[in-house]
Amino acid sequence: MNNIEKDARILIVDDTPQNTQILGTILLKEGYKINVARNGRHALDVIEKILPDIILLDVMMPELDGFETCKILKASQKTKEIPVIFLTARTDTEDLVQGFDLGAVDYVTKPFNSTELLMRVRTHLELKLSREMIETVSNERKELLHVLCHDLANPFNAMISVLNIAEDYSKFDSYKKDLLSAAKSGTEIIKLVRDMRSLEEKKLNLINTSLLYSIAQSYFLLGSLFSKKNIELEVNIDEDIEIIAEHSSFINSVLNNIFTNAIKFSYPDSKIVVNAEKKGRYAYISIRDFGIGISENMLANLFNISKNNSRTGTSGEIGTGFGMPIIKKFINAYGGEIEVFSQDEALNTGSHGTEVKLKLQLGENI
Ligand SMILES: Nc1ncnc2c1ncn2[C@@H]1O[C@H](COP(=O)(O)OP(=O)(O)OP(=O)(O)O)[C@@H](O)[C@H]1O
Ligand SMILES: [Mg+2]
Repeated sequence: MNNIEKDARILIVDDTPQNTQILGTILLKEGYKINVARNGRHALDVIEKILPDIILLDVMMPELDGFETCKILKASQKTKEIPVIFLTARTDTEDLVQGFDLGAVDYVTKPFNSTELLMRVRTHLELKLSREMIETVSNERKELLHVLCHDLANPFNAMISVLNIAEDYSKFDSYKKDLLSAAKSGTEIIKLVRDMRSLEEKKLNLINTSLLYSIAQSYFLLGSLFSKKNIELEVNIDEDIEIIAEHSSFINSVLNNIFTNAIKFSYPDSKIVVNAEKKGRYAYISIRDFGIGISENMLANLFNISKNNSRTGTSGEIGTGFGMPIIKKFINAYGGEIEVFSQDEALNTGSHGTEVKLKLQLGENI
């Protein structure tokens, strides 16, 4: 048994104390952590507090039987992925069919055979772990693709805009700086994608980063998006504020994603307001738009990469729904926090819009 598996927590649900005792002894001896519930209702209470990795569920129980409990567990987002193994008498084959129909993954017959029990538990724990691993890897791939395809588009757009207005070759020198800056952002993003694996181990190169400069660079990279919708950017922050961040991801993934969202979900001719203040060891930054807002339901899943939250923007802009989870991942890697507040236009016709609040460590004086 590997270590992750050994850390597994198993919930035993049975109204016969003798059964829970036998199962508990076998599983504890193997090194598993266990919790015990005496019926379905009690099991739901226990799960509310401690989420198990696998559930051994008796079928016949007072108050809430195994089938009803399984139904409730499979209907809930929080618990539907937990494997359920039914505990049944050897003769109850009808039960087995119904159990599988309800989403159980296996069954163990009474009286218990410890080898068989442990084998089944181990198999389903391994399956659960590999499913989770596949999901993690797939989410990491989604993140890399997002940064490559989504964030890398901005420097190219900036270069195209500069080239479009640079018709007069004699003025080319003055555009060179902007082109270089956009191209540099592009190569930094490619490097960032290479480095993203180290995000897990918090090995990003965290340095003092000027807030105003980062916002200016982001505004430059997104210039064509701002101007297409005629959106004004109002920035009320002191020039001297420096925060701790990784330079490239802060501009290209954090700020650019927050601003593209704000632009995408604002109506033309509106504005985005950025405020920041220093308090103690932190900078509190607020980025506010007056767009369509976000419903409460959607807010709850905003940072969940497994949920697709993507809507089209007010001018039909399309997205992938990976922006917000990536922003949060970077902010956390910088040791900061992010919160999103919003008033849905559908509920409130007066004031509506979204405010993204960042709390980031202030740079150190060097
Ligand atoms: N400022 C905002 N105003 C209104 N809705 C927003 C705002 N920011 C995010 N949302 C909502 O959250 C969803 C998820 O945002 P996220 O940035 O993760 O993905 P996306 O913008 O749809 O796609 P992508 O960032 O890949 O282009 C959006 O589709 C939108 O519904
Ligand atoms: Mg987005």
